[in-house]
Amino acid sequence: MKTLLVVSGGDAPGINTALLQYTRLARQNGDEIVGAVGSFAGVLDGRIIDLQPEMIAPVAGLGGSYLASSREPVLRDPQNRQKLSEILTSHQIDNVVVFGGDGTLRNIPPILNDMGIACIGIPTTIDNDVPGTEMSIGFDSACNFAYQTIDNLLATARALPGRIFSVETLGGNTGLLALDIAAGSGAHAVLVPEYAYSDDWLIQRLKDAVQREQYALVILSEGVATSRTLVEDIQEKSGLKIRDTRLGHGQRGTPPSHRDRVLASEMAQAAYDALPAGTTMGTMVVSGGKINLQAGKLADLPPRLPDQSLYNQVNGL
Ligand code: F6P
Repeated sequence: MKTLLVVSGGDAPGINTALLQYTRLARQNGDEIVGAVGSFAGVLDGRIIDLQPEMIAPVAGLGGSYLASSREPVLRDPQNRQKLSEILTSHQIDNVVVFGGDGTLRNIPPILNDMGIACIGIPTTIDNDVPGTEMSIGFDSACNFAYQTIDNLLATARALPGRIFSVETLGGNTGLLALDIAAGSGAHAVLVPEYAYSDDWLIQRLKDAVQREQYALVILSEGVATSRTLVEDIQEKSGLKIRDTRLGHGQRGTPPSHRDRVLASEMAQAAYDALPAGTTMGTMVVSGGKINLQAGKLADLPPRLPDQSLYNQVNGL
């Protein structure tokens, strides 16, 4: 069996653990593994390399991805799809394992299936927005990265009372990451793109927290339309000092947590087992806390939304 591993879209902590586990299993069983450098854009440029566990082992505990990714949507072009099909045939590739987020996992497996190539998707995104899975690889690490910063912020918040602290997380146009971080860090408010809020409510909520607890913590998801101007607005309308922190891409490049390493390793194993068992298309998911292969397309599943009751709980609604 010859398998091509492809990382597509934003990288996530834990991808390297999965790459290491997959290449080890392949070696044990005498399979051949190749990797795309630069995702499908790289494959179209002929950048396919042999992969061995020894190559990946030195970065297994680091964030990022040994195999460079790309966000170029090259397979929207039918000519590129044709070219990809020819390249996969000429390299005698039997199947593809693709690592990515919502966009990648909805689109790529069906395209490859149309070419007669079996494809399994592994959900890797700190945003945790892949439909059908309770957990994506990278999410836990990104939450832990946020806690390290927030716990430090709260030490100074308590030491010098009277200020509001705002922390912006990554998350794209979804607020699942921001909401979990808010719940896990004891924030007084969280703003996510999916749910509306009013300025008056927010200001009052933060002022009340400062009065009661000497400080207020609000978590902003980067996808909130007003997040760039909100910080100045809060300062102006509350009359309190606000100190703003943006976690930025350090949140994505953080080393994988224990939980992400185990999840990555288990999903790699399950994907490896599924291909010889005859799976032609599917995605690894966590459902009811267990890792399963969800056969077929992701395309038909609705988008994942932040838990409304947790949102209400954090915001005291
Ligand atoms: O991969 C998801 C994500 O990390 C989002 O949380 C974020 O908005 C986006 O990618 C950033 O992408 P880029 O690295 O292209 O700026």
